Amino acid sequence: MKSTDTNHTLIGPFSQILTMENLPVAGPIADGRLQVLEQGGVLVQGEKIIKTGRYTQLHHEAVEHKYKLELIREPMVLLPGLIDAHTHMCFAGSRASDYALRVAGKSYLEIARTGGGILDSVRKTRDASIVELVELLKRRCDRHLSEGVTTCEVKSGYGLTVDDELKMLEVIRLVNRHHALDLVPTCLAAHMLPPEFTDAEVYLAHIVSELLPQVLEQDLAGRVDIFVEDTAFTEKAATKYLLAAKDMGFDLTVHADQFSTGGSRVAAEAGSVSADHLEASTEVEIALLQEAGTVATVLPGASLGLGMRYAPARKMLDGGLCLAIATDWNPGSAPMGDLLLQAALLGASEKLMTAETLAAITSRAAHALYLTDRGILATGKLADMIAFPTENYKEILYFQGKLKPKIIWKKGNRISGRT
Ligand code: NIG
Ligand code: FE
Repeated sequence: MKSTDTNHTLIGPFSQILTMENLPVAGPIADGRLQVLEQGGVLVQGEKIIKTGRYTQLHHEAVEHKYKLELIREPMVLLPGLIDAHTHMCFAGSRASDYALRVAGKSYLEIARTGGGILDSVRKTRDASIVELVELLKRRCDRHLSEGVTTCEVKSGYGLTVDDELKMLEVIRLVNRHHALDLVPTCLAAHMLPPEFTDAEVYLAHIVSELLPQVLEQDLAGRVDIFVEDTAFTEKAATKYLLAAKDMGFDLTVHADQFSTGGSRVAAEAGSVSADHLEASTEVEIALLQEAGTVATVLPGASLGLGMRYAPARKMLDGGLCLAIATDWNPGSAPMGDLLLQAALLGASEKLMTAETLAAITSRAAHALYLTDRGILATGKLADMIAFPTENYKEILYFQGKLKPKIIWKKGNRISGRT
């Protein structure tokens, strides 16, 4: 349940606090830019941070004002809670058979053409009840939170009828109400052309007139996404759809350049907050996104799941982009769903600096979701914090995701992590 506590609590001492404050919003980040508070503490009131600073100093203040003390008795490094800015965690069923076919040599797109792929998850998700979907999503949220993810975007997109998309968004809302993890819902009714339609433009027009008004009316999501690809929706159809959604007041995001380019041009032209995937992007697409100020959200979990190349994250940072890293957790291309592990592996391959990788799953991931109240540890921000059992922040990526946070605070409430 969400916190209602209004008392002050001093939490610490921590060997190091990485505040992730005052970092550039886009482009490369040298590790020297990281603010590292040695022997630090955090003063929390209710769900927010009052201040961070040297523990000894904050301790004097705490004793004077009789604040509560939450003592950290072993060496720990504190970071902002992780933000996973792109997931499809609401789904039923497994696509392990697709995976077996892929590792045996069939492509993701071939499998989709022969009845597997996204439409297989659509069938299974349509068949599942709200209660079943709530339970499945809740379990995935439990795991994510225990691994340090305190905010997570979740898309619909396995319904593809008005009622089934509303059902998915309702499931996301129900879980969000009762789970400590904050969920940010996105309507992805434009994930694939459903079997009931033969014309993509007709389907998208139907979504605009029949579904999106209900999503707004019932306050089910403030964001709209579309999959731009030959096998899903064309650039022209996607642009028209996104502009209609924008006119209705939705924020936009796009599945772009996963297998072929085109999606990032759509994202840039439509004024999308982020363009996600980008495995096929080149200098041309990077320049388009830079010009438009679109966040590049890359999804190493999809590259790992499909056995494909990573998005060119180094080139994106050098090209001046704001880079976020997310899991894309879904039953098909990215079943693993481990944000820290995937970010560490991408960072090692793409030669990302520690500061760049950590920002991509905290402060810069917050930008990808237009969230201004989290992602850094600073006065007035949410007390979403994770503590790793180490004295040196460099060990977090060094262990490539195997060092998990031991303590997690969501809005000031303490939750144990995995050990
Ligand atoms: O982001 N590329 C489109 N959609 C998802 C995959 C969903 C699925 O395979 O079920 C993605 O990778
Ligand atoms: Fe995705």
